Amino acid sequence: MSDSPLKRKVRDVLVSPKIGDDVQVQGWVRTKRESKAGLTFLEVNDGSYFQNLQVVVPADLPNYTTEIPKLYPGSSVTVIGKEVQSQGGKQAVEVQAREVSLLGACDPSVYPIGKQKMTYEYLRDFTHLRSRTNTFSAIARVRNVLSMAIHGFFQERGFLWLHTPIITANDAEGAGQMFRVTTLDMEKPPRKEDGGVDFAKDFFGGGVNLTVSGQLEAEAYACSMGNVYTFGPTFRAENSHTSRHLAEFWMVEPEMAFADLEDDARLAEDFLKHLLRNVLEKCPLEMEFFKQRVEPTILETLHSVVDNPFKRLTYTEAVEVLKKSGETFKYAVEWGIDLQSEHERYLTEKVFKAPVILTDYPKGIKAFYMKLNPDGKTVRAMDVLVPGIGEIIGGAQREDREDVLVSRIKEMGMHEGPLWWYLDLRRFGSVPHAGFGLGFERLVQFVTGMGNIRDVIPFPRTPGNIHI
Ligand code: 4AD
Ligand code: MG
Repeated sequence: MSDSPLKRKVRDVLVSPKIGDDVQVQGWVRTKRESKAGLTFLEVNDGSYFQNLQVVVPADLPNYTTEIPKLYPGSSVTVIGKEVQSQGGKQAVEVQAREVSLLGACDPSVYPIGKQKMTYEYLRDFTHLRSRTNTFSAIARVRNVLSMAIHGFFQERGFLWLHTPIITANDAEGAGQMFRVTTLDMEKPPRKEDGGVDFAKDFFGGGVNLTVSGQLEAEAYACSMGNVYTFGPTFRAENSHTSRHLAEFWMVEPEMAFADLEDDARLAEDFLKHLLRNVLEKCPLEMEFFKQRVEPTILETLHSVVDNPFKRLTYTEAVEVLKKSGETFKYAVEWGIDLQSEHERYLTEKVFKAPVILTDYPKGIKAFYMKLNPDGKTVRAMDVLVPGIGEIIGGAQREDREDVLVSRIKEMGMHEGPLWWYLDLRRFGSVPHAGFGLGFERLVQFVTGMGNIRDVIPFPRTPGNIHI
């Protein structure tokens, strides 16, 4: 309609009000309140800002007694009116409506999102609606800011954004936790002579799966382009029912040529600090909300991480610290064990009260591609541990010697055949190189203080659960 005033987002009206101007705003009603003075107040949110826009609906609107009473929470509206100085204390500006029309009704008797306190667990059954709540819309905006901060960090440093494949024939972690991708008829698949499924007849002419990590392909590009990074979805068919594991999660994986573990650790520390600074700066309202509603210490924690150096020690030193601690852990600590989240959290929360970078893990508990140390027992691995989460980053300097890599592959009971191309990188101008993977959802958990990883990704996938 030509006489409709300019459409503005709630954010724009609240952040840069144009008092006295006509405006059109569209959004969803969060709350409705009728005042004794014969007015109705609507709180409207369109997802652009943490705060709602207050709309004052005067009783003399033609649809005041017909349509306005039907504006239940969740219904969508178009509001036309004037931006005015707010009478109430909460905000500087509100909209004095002269036209309010209901776009889509929302029946309160069946709408699952109520005003009463809903648990996160309850909301997991409504992942398509939970972003209408303060918590989940705040998380969505934090994810967005973090994503851009990731690109900003690497782009400023000249890293090339590389798109690694989702469908792959590699098992990048050598852990066998992959989802198979197939177009074979699973009711009656073609069989080999030995009775096994004949994947040579499958779409790609061989067995393929969803990627568990873009690292191996990133190494190929690092060994020509220098510094690269990937940022994409990864998939793990691990049967972990914890608050830190998803079957589909996003991972950021930088890979640097002519770099060692020291360079890797420095990059990881700078990177995490950069991301936290960005959120603190760009999401003040969201962070205040997380402090009040989710984790009272969250701001102190993030500021302290930004302001203090990370603690570095070797796995062997960490095991000593844990053994001497006198603490009884569920899993006893011995050199050679894979550290559990209880151990990681004890180190970062109780002992050092800061993020910890652990290096040089026993080769038996780490992936085949990590560079073997001269001791023959440990590898140039690095895990970054943070309070509340434990491991948030896993990385390593890569084994760049072909012969050592081949013997490590064999030692781990893997086949070198499918890795022929990966070995090529060690044959043709091999260079020291290193990288890491940051679990994006663990980062979002860390930043927001949210306890369960299922609540920091829009549509979580976990064993036995896929709602949408
Ligand atoms: O330690 P991971 O398995 O390391 C790798 O995948 C390497 N290829 C990374 C590299 O060097 N380029 O995974 C890296 C991070 C973990 O530290 C953790 O934050 C996250 O990915 N992660 C998960 N996040 C959610 N759900 C899961 N199931 C995860 N598994 C790993
Ligand atoms: Mg790891």
